[in-house]
Amino acid sequence: MKYGYFDDPNREYVITTPETPLPWINYLGNDGFYGLISNTAGGYDFYRDAKLRRITRFRYNNVPNDFGGRMYYIKDGDTVWSPAFLPAGTALDSYECRHGMGYTTFTSVKNSVEAKLTAFVPLGDSCELNMLDLVNNSGETKELTVFSCIEWCLWNAVDDANNYQRNLSIGELEVIGSTIYHKTEYRERRNHYAFFTVNTDVAGFDTDRDTFLGARRFWNDPVVVENGKSGDSVASGWYPIASHSIKVKLAPGEKKSFIFQLGYVEVDRDKKWESKGVINKAPAKALIEKYNSEAACDKAFADLAAYWSNLLSIYHLESGNDKLNRMVNIWHQYQCMVTFNMSRSASYWETGTGRGMGFRDSCQDLLGFMHLVPDRARARIIDIASIQFENGSTYHQYQPLTKRGNADIGGGFNDDPLWLVACTCAYIRETGDFTILDHPTPFNNVEGSEKPLLEHLRRSVNFTINNKGPHGLPLIGRADWNDCLNLNCFSYEPGESFQTFGPSEGPVAESVFIAGMFVKYGLEYADLCDHIGLADEAATIRNEVNNVKTATEQFGWDGEWFVRAYDANGNKVGSDECEEGKIFIEPQGFCTMAGIGQEKGYGRKALDSVKKYLVNDYGVEILAPCYTTYHVELGEISSYPPGYKENGAIFTHNNPWVSVAATVIGDGDMAFDIYKRSCPAFLEDVSEIHRTEPYVYSQMIAGRSAPRYGEAKNSFLTGTAAWAFVDISQAILGITPTLDGLSVKPCLPADLDDYTVTRRYRGCEYHIHVLKDPAKKGLYVDGTATEGNLIPINDASEIEVEYYI
Ligand code: BGC
Ligand code: NOJ
Repeated sequence: MKYGYFDDPNREYVITTPETPLPWINYLGNDGFYGLISNTAGGYDFYRDAKLRRITRFRYNNVPNDFGGRMYYIKDGDTVWSPAFLPAGTALDSYECRHGMGYTTFTSVKNSVEAKLTAFVPLGDSCELNMLDLVNNSGETKELTVFSCIEWCLWNAVDDANNYQRNLSIGELEVIGSTIYHKTEYRERRNHYAFFTVNTDVAGFDTDRDTFLGARRFWNDPVVVENGKSGDSVASGWYPIASHSIKVKLAPGEKKSFIFQLGYVEVDRDKKWESKGVINKAPAKALIEKYNSEAACDKAFADLAAYWSNLLSIYHLESGNDKLNRMVNIWHQYQCMVTFNMSRSASYWETGTGRGMGFRDSCQDLLGFMHLVPDRARARIIDIASIQFENGSTYHQYQPLTKRGNADIGGGFNDDPLWLVACTCAYIRETGDFTILDHPTPFNNVEGSEKPLLEHLRRSVNFTINNKGPHGLPLIGRADWNDCLNLNCFSYEPGESFQTFGPSEGPVAESVFIAGMFVKYGLEYADLCDHIGLADEAATIRNEVNNVKTATEQFGWDGEWFVRAYDANGNKVGSDECEEGKIFIEPQGFCTMAGIGQEKGYGRKALDSVKKYLVNDYGVEILAPCYTTYHVELGEISSYPPGYKENGAIFTHNNPWVSVAATVIGDGDMAFDIYKRSCPAFLEDVSEIHRTEPYVYSQMIAGRSAPRYGEAKNSFLTGTAAWAFVDISQAILGITPTLDGLSVKPCLPADLDDYTVTRRYRGCEYHIHVLKDPAKKGLYVDGTATEGNLIPINDASEIEVEYYI
């Protein structure tokens, strides 16, 4: 069952009912000011950091779960309705929500009044615009009252939900004309405030929530709206909001438009005040002025569309498969932008109050983002590398506002350093910008500790070399990619963090997964060294890679698949010897990608075992059989009920590893099959089972052992976004950046043999046609048969390429 449809020419998903199984959301904003918006206009806004600069309030655990956000009420006689259905919740005569690239529109009709609400964040400015168009399609004049409302968050989202004894006394606002300024804490240390305005005279306003809602009322029927008249309240403490009321008279056929703007500004500390207690409004006024006309907003909206058209033309596929086209051309790349921006911080599942930017997460997100905005990718790599420690290990997370490592979680996740190698190599393959390696980059953000970025990569690689266990395999530390494999933790008390409890590190527990990573990324590092004239170092690293390869073949192979790890007692994890958790997906994917045991056919065997034990209707499960009891020596993984999360769900992030691995052993059918199983557009028809958005990946889909098999959770912020795009665009469709140029090497299923990819790469636009013609087999560059798979770097601005299979 579906709740909408894809509108590919407009790059939108169109939701046709407000009653989706869960709120289906979208992201607004690209570079600083962000909003989350659901298909009923719920959500929240923040500036840079969802924890430290939350602008509007959001209630997690809410019932129902999606009130708040942008609240608009239209009072038409006795009927009160909302263009996005909520908050009024009045049945609409028609409803449509379009989630597009950085914007969401709602079009709805009630009693012959049509409302169109468009929400977006204009490029380069710190505000969200809500354009509301009203059209009277009836034969009579309509006298409407429109109410707006947003609820302010008191900036720090954790304190906001926490420290009521203080919070309820600190709220402060100013109201000037149609603009409501939120200035809580500005009198003391803050130099930023927010405002909510509308480009018309208002009939009234409210800034005090209790006045607006009335006693014991809820957002669906505020007393002020019922009465058709604002209370003109100015909050002092308690719960500050911002609400306008506007009288709108519409003749038959008449249309009126309003622009609401939610803005955020920062003021130089020495210019904070206009006069005592009165904030300096100059920067707000400039922003208000800029977007107070329809023409200005339309232009900003068109600029946003042009921005996305340009980004999405960098990699563009034309194939006979609509679902594939829409994922590759639109939604994969869009989700990559969102994960780049958010890491795992703010979604409807991530509160934005916990994790900031994750080291491994952001490094992997970059893999799908490089081609979109390489400059931002470069800056991000430097930010990430700056939280690394001198010994090559690293903080696991950092806060986007401060960019400082997060001391609460600390370090000790031993896969982390290698992801830095992965993303930096990918950046250079995309851009050819070797100068990034020279960029002076600090350790742990300590001034004076700067070393060229190359030194950071070197220390990353050496960290693995210097931290091996009894079998010569890398030590796992607190956990590797699988945060729930806590082999050194041994926690018996509820509430202790599985990741950080106790020392959480040990000299015995080893990870076969990190071994796979080291082989793959160690070799990439060695290639890089060769390219910059460090042949000796390249040879040394290759030698180390060989050692780990040999150790993995010897101690990391279980007979039919790769072992997952060795625990702190030296026992195998993910082996036929185990009672539960006999086989794990991660090493099957990564060790096969790395080519470990290739000559011995390990990859084929491992993937056959994946098929046999892990593949289900919606993807590949993370392990089997699931843990049914708590294993203190394994940690959080065995804390989840069977079939959920790391205990046997389809943890979609690692599905592309298996798919890429299948291409490494030349099995295009398996690669594409695995790709399709968990791919959102291919699951749209079972949205009532899947339940999350059909246009983006969710982190997990419940596995066969779970009562709710097939149900997805944690949509949007997942490393799947980047890996799925790498998988389909590079491994399957075969258009892969290398240090020396673009390589064309598809690995295709039987039913995909005629497609074109347009790829802009290092200043040249490649038109690559992949066709079936066994007589011609191979690569033709501008008509000339070319040995191998590489189109060398060149000066041309456009190149025609044919690749015959
Ligand atoms: C989740 C993991 C997540 C980790 C972050 C665990 O509870 O299952 O998916 O990476 O928390 O700390
Ligand atoms: C989600 C985390 O963000 C990611 O870093 C981790 O690899 C996976 N969970 C698996 O545990």
